Amino acid sequence: MSRRRPQLIPWRTAGRVSESQKSADDVVREIGWVFNNEIGETLDLAEFTNTGDHEIFAYLEAFQLRTDDLPKQTIVEIGSGIGRMTAGFSRAFAQVIACDLDAAFLERCRQTVAQFGEVSRLRTCHVADGRTLAISDGEADITFSYITLQHCQHDDALSLVTEAARVTKPGGHIALNFRTWQPIDLALWPLGKLMRAMWRLPRVGPWLARRRLASRLGWQANRLSPDEVSRHLADLPYKFATRVIYHSPHRRLKARNDAELRTFEGVNRSHWWLIAERS
Ligand SMILES: C[S@@+](CC[C@H](N)C(=O)[O-])C[C@H]1O[C@@H](n2cnc3c(N)ncnc32)[C@H](O)[C@@H]1O
Repeated sequence: MSRRRPQLIPWRTAGRVSESQKSADDVVREIGWVFNNEIGETLDLAEFTNTGDHEIFAYLEAFQLRTDDLPKQTIVEIGSGIGRMTAGFSRAFAQVIACDLDAAFLERCRQTVAQFGEVSRLRTCHVADGRTLAISDGEADITFSYITLQHCQHDDALSLVTEAARVTKPGGHIALNFRTWQPIDLALWPLGKLMRAMWRLPRVGPWLARRRLASRLGWQANRLSPDEVSRHLADLPYKFATRVIYHSPHRRLKARNDAELRTFEGVNRSHWWLIAERS
């Protein structure tokens, strides 16, 4: 799959590195930056999951999803990585289904949840093809994805949007984070393509796939605008009763008739979130 989808190379590389580390703290020090961009000799798993806790509860609160029912609910997390956010979800929800394309990440995710969450509430789902979830229709109350869809090949990202809609029960919500176009993409987009091509080179490719700057350039494999996602949703058999788009207050979006626009300080300027209730 990596030949057709070179953007997967740095995840697979980080997954292999995670397998070779002695302790979970070592994993955070070696590859934690692929999840929260933090580096340092003194990082550890406790600090790492703490960053996840801060973000999940801030987002659930901002998106009005932090209800009293959470302890009875199931959340599906698409792109869980090694469980930075999964541990917090497992404490708040009855069940968390952590999905990731890298099987080694999912093993580490289980260890993270065992240490900082409620492992009896965790189920993992290996997204082997990068686009479908081995989860039944309507299992989730909330399907959540953060800084993941931007890393998928364009059509895989849209397929995961379809999957998110499918696995969410009527009355449940999808909460999906996307990256959209910015003026700086005039430079970043071609550089990213170049980097993905270089990851395929013998010798230098594997070396580059472990470098932070190179990874950051190459792994953002798509940009999805609200218009494009809206057109995709219109073709799905699953319908939504409400749709809200959250964006940064520092970025203006034009008013739409298919979704309410709201701002939240915690949203990166180049990101936007779709929060929609399944009907
Ligand atoms: C930047 S990390 C974010 C992880 C987590 N959401 C967090 O904030 O810590 C992106 C994750 O998405 C996973 N990923 C990338 N492409 C994917 C795909 N097509 N399907 C499922 N997971 C994918 C990667 O393996 C990685 O764990």
